[in-house]
Amino acid sequence: MVNTSKALTFTVQSECKHSRARVAIMKLPHYDVQTPVFMPVGTQGTMKGLLTDQLENLNCEIILGNTYHLGNRPGVDVLKKVGGLHKFMGWNRALLTDSGGFQMVSLLKLAEITEEGVKFRSPYDDSEIMLTPEKSIEIQNCIGADIVMQLDDVVQTTFQDYDRIKEATERTSRWLDRCLKAHKRPSEQNIFPIVQGLLNPELRRKSAEEHITKDVNGFAIGGLSGGEAKDDFWPMVSLGTEILDKSKPRYLMGVGLAIDLLVCVALGVDMFDCVFPTRTARFGCALVNKGQLNLKQKQFESDLNPIDSDCECTTCANYTRAYLHCIVSVETVACHLISVHNIAFQMRLMRTMRENIKQGTFPKFVKKFVNEIHPDKN
Ligand code: GUN
Ligand code: ZN
Repeated sequence: MVNTSKALTFTVQSECKHSRARVAIMKLPHYDVQTPVFMPVGTQGTMKGLLTDQLENLNCEIILGNTYHLGNRPGVDVLKKVGGLHKFMGWNRALLTDSGGFQMVSLLKLAEITEEGVKFRSPYDDSEIMLTPEKSIEIQNCIGADIVMQLDDVVQTTFQDYDRIKEATERTSRWLDRCLKAHKRPSEQNIFPIVQGLLNPELRRKSAEEHITKDVNGFAIGGLSGGEAKDDFWPMVSLGTEILDKSKPRYLMGVGLAIDLLVCVALGVDMFDCVFPTRTARFGCALVNKGQLNLKQKQFESDLNPIDSDCECTTCANYTRAYLHCIVSVETVACHLISVHNIAFQMRLMRTMRENIKQGTFPKFVKKFVNEIHPDKN
């Protein structure tokens, strides 16, 4: 009998006539997600400042967790016992987990990479840990996310050594095969390969061309947004979406600035994640169309407007800039309130893009938004 169960179906509903932007429904085991979508990042099984019911109220349909952190705490035994992260954190919608290596290499800079895997010292107890492709998938199988990422060999985006970039790109393809072989729950969880190759077009092309030969339901573009110039970054995204199957979702990793979301949706990207909206909230910064408001600044001391009078979030409905300014340096609740607004901002931007793509007005919308960010550049 043919197995008709599929852990992901991707149905394109509208396409922009002037760009590669599209609106689709991505049906996952836990939720039907509307794309293009922004996925807030909850490293440790929480959203740093937001509760799961707040995320639902903000219309988040899919969030992201990190394998390494979750593998450490609560750990696979607890995750197995409780039946996965969805149940553990009380989140019933879709979930995606990153594979772990990127966090070690880019954030902690503690890692040594060999063909076997990523070796690093645990930031928890200083013990030596080897994260292999098999181990990453084993943990991700326990976490139970709808989408799981392959373990990839990550090098810093601005790194220049061609031989190392080539090695990392080719190793990522070999690790993909190991991940696919180790995957125990293909009818419930989707592995996405990650296109690497940094800023080298030939390596990136080869990486994408290899990945599209695999039996997978979607792809990611990695190794970008690490401090490189937009003129280097955007063409690499374009190269990726040119090669990666149009009928499957494409996920650009670690990108969340409004201007990048606009450009990369136009280039045909369907999914994004970034710690930026919640991290910047912890520094007292609120997102607005023009950029950011640093609510710690004295100019907001007696400003009785909400962060954004067009925003429908509960923070903008109930609090003024002056109030947030008053409590931002002394109360963590201010960071929570700003996080709510910042996630609402990202969700609204994505929803507005989807609406404009459907109505055939996407280019006009992008132009208007970019003019608002850079009023002097039209
Ligand atoms: N998050 C942002 N960029 C990357 C990447 O290249 N690989 C992985 N695994 N995660 C990321
Ligand atoms: Zn708001």
